[in-house]
Amino acid sequence: MFNYAQIEESKIEFVEIAPAAELPNGERLFVDMGDKPIVIFNIAGQFFAIGDVCSHDDGPLGDGVIEGHHVVCPRHGAEFDVRTGQAMQMPAVVDIPAYPVQVRDGIIFIGVPK
Ligand code: FES
Repeated sequence: MFNYAQIEESKIEFVEIAPAAELPNGERLFVDMGDKPIVIFNIAGQFFAIGDVCSHDDGPLGDGVIEGHHVVCPRHGAEFDVRTGQAMQMPAVVDIPAYPVQVRDGIIFIGVPK
């Protein structure tokens, strides 16, 4: 289970990322949290953060096309739900991390495990 949004908040640390105004609708932002490359999407005004590495063969998911709430891996076409990290389409069968996102006073924070 990689969906950190489902972990109780006491086990999550929220880290300031950027002003929400810098990530308009339809855009994406890449952040490197130590050993965790993360991509944040703005889809219709809502923010979603997932790991930027495909579970199939390490493809750059953040470069993928967004279809609804799915991102399509540019390498072999696997799809993941950006809300949960769930693998939705072969060839990926393993979920990827999905991180909780908060916007406080116009600033995006993402939650990572402590
Ligand atoms: S690396 Fe993503 S589908 Fe193969």
